[in-house]
Amino acid sequence: MELTLSLVLTVCVCAAVRGDGDNGHIAGALGAPVRLTDSDPGLVKALEFAERRYNMLSNGMHIRRVTKIISATRQLVKGVRYSITAEIGRTQCKKSAEFHVTEDCKIFQESQKRKTEVCLFEVWNIPWENKTTLLKQKCQPVVRKETKNIVHVPLSHAKPSQESVDLLMQFKDFMVKYNRTYASQDEAEKRLGIFQQNLKTAQTLQALDQGTAEYGVTKFSDLTEDEFRIIYLNPMLSQWSLQKQMKPAAPVSKAAPDSWDWRDHGAVSSVKNQGFCGSCWAFSVTGNIEGQWFKKTGQLMSLSEQELVDCDKLDQACGGGLPSNAYEAIENLGGLETEADYSYTGHKQKCDFFSGKVAAYINSSVELPKDENDIAAWLAENGPVSAALNAFAMQFYRKGVSHPLRILCNPWMIDHAVLLVGYGERNGVPFWAIKNSWGEDYGEKGYYYLYRGSSLCGINKMCSSAVVN
Ligand SMILES: *[C@@H]1O[C@H](CO)[C@@H](O)[C@H](O)[C@H]1NC(C)=O
Ligand SMILES: *[C@@H]1O[C@H](CO)[C@@H](O)[C@H](O)[C@H]1NC(C)=O
Ligand SMILES: *[C@@H]1O[C@H](CO)[C@@H](O)[C@H](O)[C@H]1NC(C)=O
Repeated sequence: MELTLSLVLTVCVCAAVRGDGDNGHIAGALGAPVRLTDSDPGLVKALEFAERRYNMLSNGMHIRRVTKIISATRQLVKGVRYSITAEIGRTQCKKSAEFHVTEDCKIFQESQKRKTEVCLFEVWNIPWENKTTLLKQKCQPVVRKETKNIVHVPLSHAKPSQESVDLLMQFKDFMVKYNRTYASQDEAEKRLGIFQQNLKTAQTLQALDQGTAEYGVTKFSDLTEDEFRIIYLNPMLSQWSLQKQMKPAAPVSKAAPDSWDWRDHGAVSSVKNQGFCGSCWAFSVTGNIEGQWFKKTGQLMSLSEQELVDCDKLDQACGGGLPSNAYEAIENLGGLETEADYSYTGHKQKCDFFSGKVAAYINSSVELPKDENDIAAWLAENGPVSAALNAFAMQFYRKGVSHPLRILCNPWMIDHAVLLVGYGERNGVPFWAIKNSWGEDYGEKGYYYLYRGSSLCGINKMCSSAVVN
């Protein structure tokens, strides 16, 4: 692992040196970024602007100033985009209402420079509209020790931007945390590129999230969206209108309580992991049946997904499936074995079902109403609900109540099956508590929290349950 990583570091540093060298990135390309000298008048103005905005946005007591320009480029867009990486140090001047930076504001001496930050600013100037915007400001404390060999390349030569150093550090943390190794240098570089793209997507989701969710590096951060879809999501769910008509669920007798969580009542087994297999549908259904059997017997059993992967001929094993088919398959087979008797391998095998080991049967299945209040009432009265949704925002989710913009989470593009185990409000934000099957290191201890009340990501469209008489 260490060896692989140091190779990655080396290669990327070289690439960055090449890219930043001499006459800019790709010599001669129209519209490409061009490297600037520190005294470029446009750069000086852009930096003043960035510095002022930085001070307005920060809640520090002292004014901070740019102490060193690490790199700066200028690119013709609609107007001019300046990308500047610079060190920002604390001055001895307290902020006034004006945030006015004067020449008298001395930078603290070396021994007190602990709080120096490196910032990436992107400033967009549209001269003909007299408009300047700070597109991006990303700062972090200078970590001199760890990045020594990279950052201390002589300044006269180009060096990797702080951004690429940050990226490598994050990628390294990711590899360590999720125990990743790559077979070759090429593979490692490819994965680094994907990782970088995914960080950008996560930043977009973060910027547009209307809830309280945090998005960032997850264990899927080195997969492309296509790979993620193919491996983890469910191609059959997007054609869910093909599913058989199911019986509607009987109406609920009581109104929904304000909140409910079946985890507090012992009806939910621990979070499982579907691995590199599109078997979410099987996990969604077993989770529901575990709840139905808990309701019937007061006992919680963990039930077998592998039986469905191997023996459910209506569905496509690791290639996807539909809960409605799975209920029917379970009825036809005669029931489900326990997780212990028929354990999960994450790939399709020969069916090894033995009717003598059936631990749970079902008699039929029902489809729930589409109204989220009705779904909540049904859940509180009857148990965890098999549901499906558009998982776009889930790939980058870390914690909080996720509320992606509707256009990013089309309710008709349903691709993932999950288990609704509860609902409530967090600081006034209504949520669904969703048991996922991507392991306990996903999201909040294996759970995803989604905004409740606006049919977000299609969460209300495909709710169902088995019926045990
Ligand atoms: C921009 O500023 C200049 C000088 O301050 C002024 O003459 C011009 O009218 C302004 N243009 C716009 C579009 O506001
Ligand atoms: C890390 O991955 C290697 C090989 O892929 C495996 O042998 C090892 O058990 C894993 N370690 C952990 C802690 O998962
Ligand atoms: C439900 O299914 C089980 C197992 O197939 C069966 O033994 C039982 O009689 C059924 N119950 C009803 C009420 O149909």
